[in-house]
Amino acid sequence: MKRIGFIGMGNMAQAIASGWISQKLLTPDQIYAYAPHYDKLKKNAEKIGFTACRDRKEMLEACDVFLMACKPYQIEGILGEIKEDLKGKALLSVAAGWNYERYSAYLDPSTRFQYIMPNTPAMVGEGVLLFEETNSLEKEERERMMGLFCALGKVEIIPDHLMGVAMAITGCGPAFIDMIIEGLGDAGVKYGLPRDKAYALTSQMILGSAKLQLKTGEHPGLLKDKVCSPAGTTIRGVDALEHMGIRAAMIDAIDAIM
Ligand SMILES: NC(=O)c1ccc[n+]([C@@H]2O[C@H](COP(=O)([O-])OP(=O)(O)OC[C@H]3O[C@@H](n4cnc5c(N)ncnc54)[C@H](OP(=O)(O)O)[C@@H]3O)[C@@H](O)[C@H]2O)c1
Repeated sequence: MKRIGFIGMGNMAQAIASGWISQKLLTPDQIYAYAPHYDKLKKNAEKIGFTACRDRKEMLEACDVFLMACKPYQIEGILGEIKEDLKGKALLSVAAGWNYERYSAYLDPSTRFQYIMPNTPAMVGEGVLLFEETNSLEKEERERMMGLFCALGKVEIIPDHLMGVAMAITGCGPAFIDMIIEGLGDAGVKYGLPRDKAYALTSQMILGSAKLQLKTGEHPGLLKDKVCSPAGTTIRGVDALEHMGIRAAMIDAIDAIM
């Protein structure tokens, strides 16, 4: 594997680099990183194990593949400065909204490109990594990259025109689930559970329910029905949630993002 140079080493980049290094997919000398605040970068390098570059040029010359991991509004300026250095090399990007079409206007045609959208659960190896279908990586190069990103969760290739809705669900969805964890946690506290226990029980329940659906592939409505015994307690809660329009609320939330 060639060296990968990280342009920016914030929260998402650290999650990616940590996943690769901790799972021994790459060695510290295969991950170079540049970020403007060198002291901060160096501290993270000592913690995670990548190679910190004080000078951006050093990283650009040492690597053949790059990962753009700074904020979306910074990218146009950065590309203006490094476009020449990226000629003939590969660039992956995790910056929201910077897809293949948008990069094409800034990159030299010889720069190979792939847009990837991770989500925060990637930080614990349970992410969803959306790979935009249109890309210009070489076939083997893309397969290698997908193999690396598997270390952070599930890799999915998504047609370009569906990236928006897929990102709304996987990228914003964790916040919706966090609200559910908070709400059920509050209910637990209301009836006497210690708060930390209430959150732990709720989160494990959500993790288990998600795994059950993934593993069985069963329709979520069927899984719900299996929990609802006639005249039982669960159906009373389901009834209350239906009155509050929980499913319509989820669709409305995605409508609000799109
Ligand atoms: N966090 C998420 O959950 C998430 C999910 C999906 C996608 N993303 C995408 O990931 C990207 C990074 O997000 P983040 O949350 O990791 O941000 P972040 O923690 O704020 O990190 C931004 C990084 O960019 C660096 N940087 C700033 N100016 C730079 C420059 N001119 N050249 C090179 N590096 C520069 C910063 O360095 P200094 O600290 O030294 O200033 C920092 O290391 C965003 O584009 C976002 O859309 C994030």
